[in-house]
Amino acid sequence: MSKRVILTGIRANNDLTIGNYLGALLPIVDMAKERAGEYRVNLFVPDLHSFTTPIDHSQLQAQIMQNLRVFAAAGLPLDHDDVHIYRQSYIPAHSELTWILDCFTGMGEMGRMTQFKDKSAKLSEDRISVGLFNYPVLMAADILLYNASYVPVGEDQTQHLEFTRDIATRMNNQFGELLTVPLPVPKQHEFFGKEQGLRIKDLQDPTKKMSKSDETGKGVVFMSDKPEDAAKKVMSATTDSVNKISFDPKNQPGITNLLQIMALLSGRSQQEVNAEWEGKERYGDFKNAVAEVVSAFMLQFQSTLATVDDGAILQKLQHSEAVMNETANATLLRVQKAVGLR
Ligand code: TYM
Repeated sequence: MSKRVILTGIRANNDLTIGNYLGALLPIVDMAKERAGEYRVNLFVPDLHSFTTPIDHSQLQAQIMQNLRVFAAAGLPLDHDDVHIYRQSYIPAHSELTWILDCFTGMGEMGRMTQFKDKSAKLSEDRISVGLFNYPVLMAADILLYNASYVPVGEDQTQHLEFTRDIATRMNNQFGELLTVPLPVPKQHEFFGKEQGLRIKDLQDPTKKMSKSDETGKGVVFMSDKPEDAAKKVMSATTDSVNKISFDPKNQPGITNLLQIMALLSGRSQQEVNAEWEGKERYGDFKNAVAEVVSAFMLQFQSTLATVDDGAILQKLQHSEAVMNETANATLLRVQKAVGLR
């Protein structure tokens, strides 16, 4: 039997944030370090997804390379045969399968996607691209082409993952066993040892997600921020007036966010960090401690990043992209035959 596949993608539309790192990169890198051999691990740059909303195209190549360096610096074992890195647009089957799946997808189901509703609300009608609208179909193709079972993503991508299961099931119902349906989302959380999807919040406005495309970036810790600047962002994080630290996402979202960041970036359990801080009243001391954890992490991460070997990345890309084209083309051919194109 072929190995089960763990797969995720991180867009190259801006510098990555600690939200991307904690929500998607760390879980897949941990799996790659501990379980490659047992699983195939695919980490790719969805470059075709980069401009569903406007970007500076002159920066895209540099940004793609930077994402790949971040993958390596996060500890992805590039020398492992079951670990693959690749660029989506180098595997044309992504676009071809998307078109086919588009024709089995309802306008209504795409219009209900929360991310589409949020992003399109910020744009005037003629700037909302068709690409933004059918983005989840391309994402489904990304997953289904490689028969992936496990897809570590942050909480904001849960709906897209559920759509992937829906469209795969729909195709299988109509055409027979055609596509591997990824595991239900709760099963995925179980696999990655989590209770639910992660959503790191913006430090300035802890009611919203920390996002790499945020206009001001004031509440966003980018992986490229200087450690002292990242610490300053933590020190000026919005908290509350309860004046008692408690892990309470509903009533104390700012404090809870900082407790989560502290646990995840220091590799300690949430219970342990909560036990240390809950009940304490001095927010200043707490923020200082979180700022220290964040800047120590940034310092260590950025020094590793500086040593990443671009040559090794390019060599791995070339090899992985050849292997990925084979896998993806095999799935595409199965689908083409099923729908009568071959
Ligand atoms: P993207 O590039 O916006 O984000 C990459 C990953 O980071 C997670 N993430 C977060 N997790 C926790 N807290 C946050 N504040 C936070 N911000 C971002 C996202 O959930 C995501 O897992 N559509 C995807 C990219 C993609 C993909 C795929 C992922 C394209 N094809 C196939 C998996 C499989 C996206 O926009 O991610």
